[in-house]
Amino acid sequence: MRFHRLGKTLLLLFIGLLGVQAWAKERDSREVVDRELHKPLVRGGIVFKHYCARCHGEAGEGENRTAKLYVGLNMAIKPQSKDAFFKIVSKGGEAVGRSPFMPPWEEELSKEQLSDVLAYLMVVGERVSRGEAVYKTNCTLCHGVDGDGKGRASKLYNPPPADLTRSDKNDDYKTSIITLGGAAMARSPFMPVWGEQLSKQEIADVVAYLRTIVTKAAAK
Ligand code: HEC
Ligand code: HEC
Repeated sequence: MRFHRLGKTLLLLFIGLLGVQAWAKERDSREVVDRELHKPLVRGGIVFKHYCARCHGEAGEGENRTAKLYVGLNMAIKPQSKDAFFKIVSKGGEAVGRSPFMPPWEEELSKEQLSDVLAYLMVVGERVSRGEAVYKTNCTLCHGVDGDGKGRASKLYNPPPADLTRSDKNDDYKTSIITLGGAAMARSPFMPVWGEQLSKQEIADVVAYLRTIVTKAAAK
C-alpha cells in the first residue's frame, strides 16, 4: 500500500518534471525564434551603416555631411512598400524617376544583404508613419496638413506657427521645443508644451517624420 503511494508520488513528480522541461524547452526555442527574427534587422542595420549612411545619415534621417551636397533633395527615408524599396535600392534612383545619385545596389550587395537592408528600411518607414500619425493628430491645426505653417488656426498667432518644411533646426532643437514648448526656448508661448501629453517615443517619432518633410537641405 505504502509502496503504491510512493510509486504514485514519484510518477506525479516525474510528470511534473517533464512539464517543466517542456516549458523550458519551449522558452528556449522562443528565444531562438526571437533572435532569428531580429537577426535580419540587426544585419540590415549594419549594411545600412556601411553602404548607405554616408548619404542617408546614420539612421536614415537624411542628415549628414554628404547629404548637404544634394541640395534640394530630401535624403530622409520615407515609408514605402517593400516592393517600392526593393526597386529603388536594387535598380537605383534613375530607374524609378528619382535622382541618379541614388546608386543601384543589386550588384554590390548579396541577396541576403539586400533583403536585410529592406527589413531595416521597413522599420525606419514604420517609425516615420507613426510620427506622421502623431503629427496629424496634434499639430496640423497650427502647422498645416503639409507642415507649411498654414494651419486653420495659424492666423491667430504672431509670430505664426513655423513653416516646418523650411526648418533649419536640427533634431535636438526640435525635440526640445516640442517637449518643453516655445516659451522655454525663448520663442512664442503659443507653441505648446507636448512633453506631458506625448511619450518620448512619440516625440522621437514625430521628429523623424519632420525630417522627411523638409524640402531644402538642412543648413545645420
Ligand atoms: C551616393 C549617395 C547615396 C548612397 C550611398 C545611397 N543613396 Fe539612397 N538615395 C540617394 C539619393 C540622391 C536619393 C534620391 C533622393 C530623391 O530623389 O529625392 C536616394 C533615395 C533613396 C531611397 C528613396 C528615398 C525615399 O524617398 O524614401 C531609398 C529607400 C534609398 N535611397 C535607400 C538606400 C539604401 C538602402 C542605400 C544603401 C544600400 C542607399 N540608399 C545608398 C543617394 C544615395
Ligand atoms: C497652437 C498652435 C500650435 C500647435 C498645436 C503646435 N505648434 Fe509648433 N509652433 C507654434 C508656433 C506659434 C511656433 C513658432 C514659435 C516662434 O516662432 O516663436 C511653433 C514652432 C514649432 C517648431 C520650431 C520650428 C523651427 O524651425 O524653429 C517646431 C519643431 C514645432 N513647432 C513642432 C510642433 C509639433 C511637432 C507640434 C505637434 C506635436 C506642434 N508644433 C504643434 C504653434 C503650434
